[in-house]
Amino acid sequence: MSFRKIDPTELPGNVIDEVCNKWMLLASGTQADFNFMTVNWGMMGELWFQPAVTVYVRHSRHTLGYMDGNETFTLTALKPGHQQALNIAGSKSGRDIDKLKETGLTAAFVDGCPTFEEAAYTIVCKKMYAAEMPEENFLDADIFAKSYPDGDLHKMYIGQIVAAYVND
Ligand SMILES: Cc1cc2nc3c(=O)[nH]c(=O)nc-3n(C[C@H](O)[C@H](O)[C@H](O)COP(=O)(O)O)c2cc1C
Repeated sequence: MSFRKIDPTELPGNVIDEVCNKWMLLASGTQADFNFMTVNWGMMGELWFQPAVTVYVRHSRHTLGYMDGNETFTLTALKPGHQQALNIAGSKSGRDIDKLKETGLTAAFVDGCPTFEEAAYTIVCKKMYAAEMPEENFLDADIFAKSYPDGDLHKMYIGQIVAAYVND
């Protein structure tokens, strides 16, 4: 494992395919205390003159407290062969299980932020903006009805990409 810093524009592969189809891990916290979960909803591009990502975390997620309590988060694409870890991280809560133990992943830290030895690459983000997504802001009621039948709303976090690393 060796994380090599790259420019975010040099991220390998197709990041849309990576997040939507292959899924990524969102992690936040410190070396002493962090949590992570699988995500496949996210945006990447530029905002406020910065390379930026947006992630969406439902209120029920244990990860939400970590996103609110820390200035940074990471988005990590794992190397192939870790589908079971993504399934577990995407269906079980860090409230109830030791996620590292159950997924078999090994924590690694870049710039003090949590990622994994199994990473293909990781993006380190510094929060720039966080906002609730209340029902009254939805312009299409069908989207709200389909996405939030139980009222478990998302909170959005826009992060400046402060560093990107590939794991050689
Ligand atoms: C493919 C996939 C994508 C997911 N994407 C998101 C997402 O973008 N936002 C979210 O809040 N939950 C998402 N989830 C659900 C969380 O990963 C899941 O509820 C997880 O167990 C939360 O863990 P936590 O309670 O430890 O934070 C996704 C799950 C899967 C399987």
